[in-house]
Amino acid sequence: MGYENRIWCGTIGAKYVNQKVELFGWVNRVRDMGGILFVDLRDRSGIIQLVVDQKKVSNFDDLAGLSNEDVIRVVGVVRQRPRDKINTRLPTGEYEVDVERIDILSKSDPLPFAINEEDYKEISTDESLRLRYRFLDLRRPRMFRNLYFRHKFIKKIRDFLDENGFIEVETPILSKPTPEGARDFLVPSRLQPGKFYALPQSPQLYKQILMVSGIDRYFQIAKCLRDEDLRADRQPEFTQLDLEMSFIDQEDIFNLIENLLKEVLLSTMGIELQTPFPRISYKIAMEEYLSDKPDLRFPYPIKRFDTQKVPINNENLRGEVYYLFIPFILNRKEIDNLYNKGYKFLYLIREGENYKGTLLKYIQVEKMNELVENREVYTVLLTFDQPRDKLDEIKRILIDRKVLLPACSFYFLWVKDFPLFKLEEDGKISSEHHPFTNVHPEDKDYLYELYNEFRLSVNFSDIVPKLLNIKSLAYDLVLNGVEVGSGSIRITDPELQKMIFHIIGLTDEEANSKFGFLLNSFRYGVPPHGGIALGLDRIISILLMTNSIRDVIAFPKTQSGSCLLTNSPSEVDRNQLLELGINTVPLAQ
Ligand code: AMO
Repeated sequence: MGYENRIWCGTIGAKYVNQKVELFGWVNRVRDMGGILFVDLRDRSGIIQLVVDQKKVSNFDDLAGLSNEDVIRVVGVVRQRPRDKINTRLPTGEYEVDVERIDILSKSDPLPFAINEEDYKEISTDESLRLRYRFLDLRRPRMFRNLYFRHKFIKKIRDFLDENGFIEVETPILSKPTPEGARDFLVPSRLQPGKFYALPQSPQLYKQILMVSGIDRYFQIAKCLRDEDLRADRQPEFTQLDLEMSFIDQEDIFNLIENLLKEVLLSTMGIELQTPFPRISYKIAMEEYLSDKPDLRFPYPIKRFDTQKVPINNENLRGEVYYLFIPFILNRKEIDNLYNKGYKFLYLIREGENYKGTLLKYIQVEKMNELVENREVYTVLLTFDQPRDKLDEIKRILIDRKVLLPACSFYFLWVKDFPLFKLEEDGKISSEHHPFTNVHPEDKDYLYELYNEFRLSVNFSDIVPKLLNIKSLAYDLVLNGVEVGSGSIRITDPELQKMIFHIIGLTDEEANSKFGFLLNSFRYGVPPHGGIALGLDRIISILLMTNSIRDVIAFPKTQSGSCLLTNSPSEVDRNQLLELGINTVPLAQ
């Protein structure tokens, strides 16, 4: 059809004036002026106005009832619009097409929601409706831009890694449980009834095996599948840039990722990132920012409020108190907005010698001034008896509303030296990252010492806190307060690996049945190696400043894990289950 001669709507400009063009697309809007139709024609590149004059178009009568989202073919001549008819909102607004012929290729049913809203406005359609009719939703220019950006971003990543000696290797989707620690999605085997594959939570084990195979620099744009409770920035299937390198240390990974992001952001967004990114240890992050993913967009961390230094004279205010210091006056509208959202806090505003706010009557302002280093103008927000997360949420809201920021910006940082272990709710010890993460060299001897104690001990309670202090070679990449990547230098020493398995409660048999194939491969010459995985959905969504990661995924799932377009998950035919040797039983509530 129009493959060779076709012109994209959004590309119409001066060079096409007085030329005959052929266009294809969807009707974005029709205005019937009696004898003349003004049609906005849309394809993925943009919109152009068509002028359809009854006097010039021989099949004009066929166009009665032309409506939004009909698919049409158009032949016409491009012309400059009169000066007073220029539409400054449209990139093609100086031009229009004087139509000679329109063919309706396909009619559209009436739409369940409008998709021709102004592009700069918030999308007003309910999200579940958008997801049900995702094919329509994706026709919105902004959704196309998101997908297009994602495509370019990933392409640049591939180019960069290719130029730096990495090769992309695909790893299986029908797999065994991996060590990330979420629940697995299981796939029953028909050929071996009663047995199951696990879908990979990440390619972790395969990429380590590829290092044993001498691949040296591996990467993959990998789908990962995790059956976990979903949140705004979590999907049951998501995409990682997964990579692994041999003969390197932690700094090499940091440099590589910094150079990669620098180049990719420059070429896709024109943004120049400052490198190296700050590196801070987990310990400092927790002490100074009370978070393992500090948001450096606003350089003032949330701090614990020291009631020894600034006593609070109010009986009802007990428990942990935290505060956020803001070096300017937060206006009434912003404060009310936070109260209206249900946040509970007290505040103090100083403007020279004037003080106001709900905190004023409970404290001595001189003491507060000392605490904030005698700033003459400031706002302090203080929360109590509430997790500090609330203050973090408040901070995010203020950042998102651009109250705390002059402009949008992207702050990356590395958080390193994470603990090797963490304590689970049931009191068990597990790996903070995953069990293949190496111990920090500074703590290696201490770990061996503790392990000896651990083996001989009957009472673990005094060893556990010590174990929790052991540092690892695990690191996170954080962007604007969100964990967007995570990785580690791996263990290659079989003795150490065994020890870690024991500490996290895996017997030799269990370790062997889960990860035996990896450990076995290590017996045949394993290079020192390490890697990282970046959550691409999260990074792209932050860079595009979308409301959720769902806006950068073509077909995302809802909070309850459904795809509203296809209606999955769905019941399956009983015969299909019988073939797999599966019987379903009602779940106990
Ligand atoms: P981890 O489990 O930390 O590490 O995952 C790496 C990054 O993937 C992103 N991510 C998610 N994004 C969207 N939805 C989810 N459900 C989700 N879960 C994780 C996060 C996270 O930082 N194999 C290791 C990496 C390694 O050690 O090399 C791993 O998968 O941005």
